[in-house]
Amino acid sequence: MNIARRSFLKGLGLASAGGALAGCSTIAGSTSAPKSEAVLDAEEHDKLPRLKYPVQDLRAKLNRKEPITAVVVGCGARGHTYSWYAKQYPDLFKIVGLCDLNPVRTKRLGERQGVPEADRFTGDYRDYVGFKKRLADIMIIGLPDDLHYDPAMKALDLGYDLLLEKPMCQTEEECRTLLKKVEEKQALVGIGHVLRYAPYFRAVKGVIDDGLIGEVKSIQHMEPIQFAHMAHSYVRGNWHDSKKTTPIILAKSCHDLDIIKWWVGKHCEEVSAEGDLSFFKAENAPEGAPCRCTDGCPHEGECPYSAIEIYKRRHWHLHVFDLQNRLAKGDAGEEEKAAKLKAFDDEIMEKLRTTDYGKCVFHCDNDQPDHYIANLKFEGGITAAFSMEAFTPWGGRRTRVMGTKGFIEGDGEEFTLYNFRTKERFLWDGKVSEVDTYKASGHGGGDLALVRDLLEAVDTRDPAKLSSSVAASVESHIMGFACEKSRLTGTKVKVVM
Ligand SMILES: NC(=O)c1ccc[n+]([C@@H]2O[C@H](COP(=O)([O-])OP(=O)(O)OC[C@H]3O[C@@H](n4cnc5c(N)ncnc54)[C@H](O)[C@@H]3O)[C@@H](O)[C@H]2O)c1
Repeated sequence: MNIARRSFLKGLGLASAGGALAGCSTIAGSTSAPKSEAVLDAEEHDKLPRLKYPVQDLRAKLNRKEPITAVVVGCGARGHTYSWYAKQYPDLFKIVGLCDLNPVRTKRLGERQGVPEADRFTGDYRDYVGFKKRLADIMIIGLPDDLHYDPAMKALDLGYDLLLEKPMCQTEEECRTLLKKVEEKQALVGIGHVLRYAPYFRAVKGVIDDGLIGEVKSIQHMEPIQFAHMAHSYVRGNWHDSKKTTPIILAKSCHDLDIIKWWVGKHCEEVSAEGDLSFFKAENAPEGAPCRCTDGCPHEGECPYSAIEIYKRRHWHLHVFDLQNRLAKGDAGEEEKAAKLKAFDDEIMEKLRTTDYGKCVFHCDNDQPDHYIANLKFEGGITAAFSMEAFTPWGGRRTRVMGTKGFIEGDGEEFTLYNFRTKERFLWDGKVSEVDTYKASGHGGGDLALVRDLLEAVDTRDPAKLSSSVAASVESHIMGFACEKSRLTGTKVKVVM
């Protein structure tokens, strides 16, 4: 049993006191009330009976003999992630073409996937031959947020099925138009709402749908971003400007709105939201902080957001740099290793001197809130309290689901179920990270599980193989647009479908 997970579940109530997930710890030690998770000790935790919601095999069950084919448009982090399925199951899935502006990325993904050079296009997607004729069964669209709608519409017209990253579009109107197009073309579309495909989130859904906690009355759900991830993505990085991408409630949290709605299983009627960019702005810059961490900042030694600390010392998020200097297995000699390490360090420092990732977090052109809460009201008076937090040491998700007969409490990797009447407690701990085939599948296994389900849907032309329909994704996006409207206007906003 993983100690970190165990102690998290044990301490969840205490850890979150004062936040949306507070409250559990108040009954710790009471003899008349059931023991809370706060007093569930390690030994008890290990002995809990397990819930039987198995981790599904990642191998798709296809009727056809030939692999389903795909072209990847946008060969960055997400394009790579989904393509990995073809490395793992080459008999089921094959990447036959690539397009990206960045030559390093088309080359790297092309070599990894065995795509002939002639089928790798380096340039703007609008000039890619894959938008003039259909080259494969599926198009994977892993472009930035502002480049989803246009290529998706073009690809649907050409008859592709799609794996389209979230947020699917930048406006409500585009979402609705895209949905119409999908219906008209009867296309199979997997939206990158990968949590719906992750075994943990599916197991929670299974427990709810099987009635094990009675009727769901309310949910508390937290999305801790983690302090350095916030700085990397939403202060310095790709999603720092909500107008060029999408507001953080969509860019980051459209997963969570979608998951909450899916668990509740009803339409969301109304939302109200609050939140702000409170910290990462010029007025909070410590005295004498220059524009870049590399410009001799006097606070570099203690600032948790120092780019030198995050990238050079901790080596977090380095994939964005397409670094050329890496230690390879053959670099055996000490001298050779030292030279490579120096080149590696120098290259990182050069990136910090020349890209936005080296900027001081108080001197970025950013506008995304660093804390965001949303109250969601569903049909039948069911409520959910969502909170997105930048200032946490960990990422992932933290959730409590309150039902009339029981209670679920989980940390994104394992959860407990408590039955009010029988006082029984159960544990789900699918341990996806320990399943070999899931090792390359981020988001709790959801990344590659989405590809598996999309392949089965394409093979059978059955959209029900996908956990999420495009219509459901449109609805949860509309919840996000409504939250942002509420946050900006200070009013409750109706969710109109
Ligand atoms: N489902 C999830 O959990 C999840 C997680 C992270 C990101 N995303 C979403 O996935 C999308 C891609 O994110 P990413 O992290 O892979 O970004 P990325 O920057 O790593 O990849 C995007 C790629 O698109 C290329 N590109 C940009 N403009 C182009 C153009 N005009 N023509 C051709 N290529 C172009 C870039 O060179 C880059 O390689 C974003 O919309 C993001 O919000 C989803």
